[in-house]
Amino acid sequence: MIKHAYRGIVLAASLGMASLPNAFAAPDAAQNARPTAAIMLAQTCAGCHGTEGYTRGDALVPLAGLPKVQFIHAMQNFADGSRESTVMGSIARNLTAKEIELMADYFASFPENPPIVKGNKS
Ligand code: HEC
Repeated sequence: MIKHAYRGIVLAASLGMASLPNAFAAPDAAQNARPTAAIMLAQTCAGCHGTEGYTRGDALVPLAGLPKVQFIHAMQNFADGSRESTVMGSIARNLTAKEIELMADYFASFPENPPIVKGNKS
């Protein structure tokens, strides 16, 4: 009995740790399929692009639902300077092709940002 309860605690603790980098999202089947490395990388983008690539208002660029090819092209173009940027050039230059691909799959796995409703500030 005690042994059983202990196992439950360990399981709960390890599940909690697994979902730490993504604490704001409700767990779902798709999320479980997202590699932890991708989730952690994407967290570094969240300050500007929103958690899971969702933004509010129209000041920031949403990444949720961006097709994989488009994401990778954007990052390559930022890195080589063929697409002008304020901050993305230096960010993209410091990522490996593998890291970019992981994030491309990650952001593409979410539905697109819902359309902005004018006047809705919540
Ligand atoms: C400090 C804020 C900031 C951070 C952090 C940031 N971005 Fe950006 N991102 C921007 C801005 C601003 C743009 C618009 C281009 C520019 O001026 O650099 C942009 C544009 C983009 C675009 C182009 C989107 C489109 O629709 O064409 C992609 C892709 C992107 N960022 C990916 C990322 C990824 C991946 C990360 C994390 C590794 C990240 N960004 C982190 C600010 C940020």
